[in-house]
Amino acid sequence: MIFRSLWFLAVVEQAGGRLLGIPTVPFNTSGSGSYSLSGVVNILIDGKYAAAIDTRGQTLIPPTLSDFAKTFSEDLTAITQKSELFLVNSNDPSAPAGSSITLTLGNATDYLDAAGRETSEGYTLDVSSSGIKITGASPLGVWWGTRTVLQQAILNNGSVPYGTAKDSPGWATRGMMLDVGRHYYPPDFLIEMCAYMSFFKQNTFHIHLSDNLWNNPRYSRQQSLSLYARFRLWTDATDVAGLNKYKNESFTREEFETIQTSCAARGITILPEIEAPGHALTIVQWKPELGLSTDLSLLNISHPQTIPTMKTIWKTFLPWFHSKVVHIGADEYTASVSDYNRFVNEMASFITSESNKSTRIWGTFPPKPSYTNNISKNVTIQHWAFFEDNPYNDYIKNNYSVLNSDDTFYVVSKWSGSYPQSLPYNKTFTGNPANNGLWYPHIFDANNAENNPPRNNPLALGSIAPLWNDYGPNSSVYSDAYYSWKFGIPAISDKQWGADLGMNEFMPLFDRLHPKIPGQNLERRVATKGDLILRYTFDQPSNSTAVKDLSGNGYDGKTTCARTASGSLFMDGKCALFIPLGSKGKTYTMSLTLTISNISDPTNTTLMFGRDSNLLLTPTITLLSGGNYFRTNQSKITTGEKVQLLIYGGSDRTQVQTMWDGGQSGQESLYTILGINGESMRTAYIDIEAPLERVGGLGSGWTGEVHGMDLLDHA
Ligand SMILES: *[C@@H]1O[C@H](CO)[C@@H](O)[C@H](O)[C@H]1NC(C)=O
Ligand SMILES: *[C@@H]1O[C@H](CO)[C@@H](O)[C@H](O)[C@H]1NC(C)=O
Ligand SMILES: *[C@@H]1O[C@H](CO)[C@@H](O)[C@H](O)[C@H]1NC(C)=O
Ligand SMILES: *[C@@H]1O[C@H](CO)[C@@H](O)[C@H](O)[C@H]1NC(C)=O
Ligand SMILES: *[C@@H]1O[C@H](CO)[C@@H](O)[C@H](O)[C@H]1NC(C)=O
Ligand SMILES: *[C@@H]1O[C@H](CO)[C@@H](O)[C@H](O)[C@H]1NC(C)=O
Ligand SMILES: *[C@@H]1O[C@H](CO)[C@@H](O)[C@H](O)[C@H]1NC(C)=O
Ligand SMILES: *[C@@H]1O[C@H](CO)[C@@H](O)[C@H](O)[C@H]1NC(C)=O
Ligand SMILES: *[C@@H]1O[C@H](CO)[C@@H](O)[C@H](O)[C@H]1NC(C)=O
Ligand SMILES: *[C@@H]1O[C@H](CO)[C@@H](O)[C@H](O)[C@H]1NC(C)=O
Ligand SMILES: *[C@@H]1O[C@H](CO)[C@@H](O)[C@H](O)[C@H]1NC(C)=O
Ligand SMILES: *[C@@H]1O[C@H](CO)[C@@H](O)[C@H](O)[C@H]1NC(C)=O
Repeated sequence: MIFRSLWFLAVVEQAGGRLLGIPTVPFNTSGSGSYSLSGVVNILIDGKYAAAIDTRGQTLIPPTLSDFAKTFSEDLTAITQKSELFLVNSNDPSAPAGSSITLTLGNATDYLDAAGRETSEGYTLDVSSSGIKITGASPLGVWWGTRTVLQQAILNNGSVPYGTAKDSPGWATRGMMLDVGRHYYPPDFLIEMCAYMSFFKQNTFHIHLSDNLWNNPRYSRQQSLSLYARFRLWTDATDVAGLNKYKNESFTREEFETIQTSCAARGITILPEIEAPGHALTIVQWKPELGLSTDLSLLNISHPQTIPTMKTIWKTFLPWFHSKVVHIGADEYTASVSDYNRFVNEMASFITSESNKSTRIWGTFPPKPSYTNNISKNVTIQHWAFFEDNPYNDYIKNNYSVLNSDDTFYVVSKWSGSYPQSLPYNKTFTGNPANNGLWYPHIFDANNAENNPPRNNPLALGSIAPLWNDYGPNSSVYSDAYYSWKFGIPAISDKQWGADLGMNEFMPLFDRLHPKIPGQNLERRVATKGDLILRYTFDQPSNSTAVKDLSGNGYDGKTTCARTASGSLFMDGKCALFIPLGSKGKTYTMSLTLTISNISDPTNTTLMFGRDSNLLLTPTITLLSGGNYFRTNQSKITTGEKVQLLIYGGSDRTQVQTMWDGGQSGQESLYTILGINGESMRTAYIDIEAPLERVGGLGSGWTGEVHGMDLLDHA
């Protein structure tokens, strides 16, 4: 207790002109008081700038100051649980003078990045007894200022200390990359990730939209042509008919638009990547003649149709994209370098002439004196490994701009021989080879300072930390990507911004901020008064369709099923019990007591349906999530017997158990088998959210009785 309160003081206190937050904020206090947001009634938008946008950022669909203000007011309402908060425009004659929080723009020219250049992402925050004023270099700058206000309110019991912050990011590109090519993720997941990233002031989400599993040189042509390879954009355009055969795991134009606008609303630019001429099996499966006979995952650039085909693909999708930069992949090509360089340059000029966008590639063939051609300096390079290039010596010293995606911060989902499964965030505190201190985006090499340009080098663009799905779709569920980055995003974002949070400061701050991050519920938390989240019983006779939640939380359900005389719900294969929760993330214990009398297909019976998973008998107890079946080996339910089925959502695996009158099974883990075409096989545990939308109903394939259901907040 004493420890806790001392530590609370430490958070409020500003040491050395900085406000603790993620990222930290340069701050000068004035006096010792703080402004309580409990008094905030109005958010005043300076009418002169209400429709202003930031044209200097990375997105072509920048929100206006008003748009950002609206999202901010929703976040503030959620965090302070205020019932009334008014958004007013100063041009409105009835607008109150001296509002509680004022959002405006200023033309200060000294918001500087690490290279000393002006940035539109800076802001000034003034806090006094009369209120809060955020003055941005642009609406985006104001937006980052609102993140500071929210964080301080969370950390300081609803108040923001009196004083002044003047803050701007060191690097213009700050974010993450997700391999959506080898594992599908739905739009909602990407949008929630944007909300998470934005809270820590990241601004870029790079989406790797096409890829294939490793094309083993031993494969026959037929094996290669059937290897898992995906292209995630779906269109009915005839020019690319047949390129994508998997509509249910793709983004339509409308969905991709929603992803881009939802993320832009929180200051995040979606940076799309379509990969070629390597990792391009999806294109070769469409047009096999374009593959190199020696490795079908690589395009044969000298085939006369290769570049025209890639131009057709880009011409089709460029109008979908709202970023100033697009990514053409160009990673790990092992055939002719002169073909490769010609491909990149031709695609880059095509993309610019079609769309005025610029092009980015993965660092692959750095310029060499022996080359007959080099990559144009208009193309920005995303460095990822020192065995591919030396970003400082090969690129920056030759005037190329380079983005830092060094594999220091690589993550490969679930298993890898080379990389960890969650972002090694401690290296953000120790990865500077000069002093074992704080890492920053200009530090490409965490081991050798000679490989790093000075902090103020203008050609160091920033940092993007990738997550790869080398083992494909069944290696993980959607939320695994979030859990891999849960600590990594806040830790790396502080340094991408150029701030100076120390290792010992990080976790206590994170623990307090994390439960309140607006715009997302990636952990599928469910609010509850106690450990018991939900309890349904059916032992009272009732004709009502309402099902009372006995936990005290009010999560009442509904049913279209009749009650039996013996106190259960009669499941006729069509009627259902509806639960208002959707999903519950780890940790949880879900218990369903039921008697199954009849099953139509023992390999395909769905007991429960949910937002993130379904509970099946296949015939063993199985969770289906993201299109993949995660099974147990032996756990089953005996027909005709009353059974309590328990699902434990633990911190690193989900387990199941059954109990019946006079006996119980052991707990058994759900698992997945990783591997590519039967090689490098590995068994791994898997963690899945509980399905909490309905029990039974159409498509369930069983009849019987449900006697009761419980949900607990621990495993
Ligand atoms: C912008 O600069 C002009 C001219 O220097 C000055 O008059 C004006 O007050 C400034 N506006 C803001 C919002 O700072
Ligand atoms: C937090 O703020 C509330 C209301 O603003 C106040 O009642 C409470 O005492 C404060 N708690 C602490 C620990 O300061
Ligand atoms: C804090 O005060 C110092 C000294 O006056 C000044 O140099 C610095 O710019 C101020 N910082 C902020 C964030 O206002
Ligand atoms: C690449 O395409 C050219 C032109 O069609 C063809 O002559 C050549 O054999 C192909 N190379 C490989 C390795 O597939
Ligand atoms: C093309 O892009 C450049 C760089 O983003 C920008 O400065 C220029 O205004 C754009 N031109 C047009 C016609 O949009
Ligand atoms: C390619 O770049 C290297 C290194 O800068 C240079 O030595 C060489 O002359 C360049 N080649 C051409 C064709 O420009
Ligand atoms: C680089 O971009 C500039 C400006 O858009 C253009 O004039 C030039 O031709 C481009 N260079 C190459 C090699 O693509
Ligand atoms: C890089 O650009 C600078 C400034 O334009 C120029 O002076 C220098 O010669 C260039 N260096 C190389 C290696 O191209
Ligand atoms: C990071 O470092 C802290 C402090 O040394 C340590 O407690 C923690 O276990 C480390 N975390 C990881 C993931 O290595
Ligand atoms: C349910 O409805 C039946 C028929 O209308 C009625 O006889 C019975 O009393 C009702 N039971 C309850 C618990 O309301
Ligand atoms: C999409 O459909 C395919 C074929 O029916 C199926 O195998 C896959 O699991 C589905 N994907 C999802 C995410 O449901
Ligand atoms: C399983 O049953 C459902 C509902 O009847 C059906 O839609 C689905 O196609 C079946 N799946 C398989 C693999 O048979």
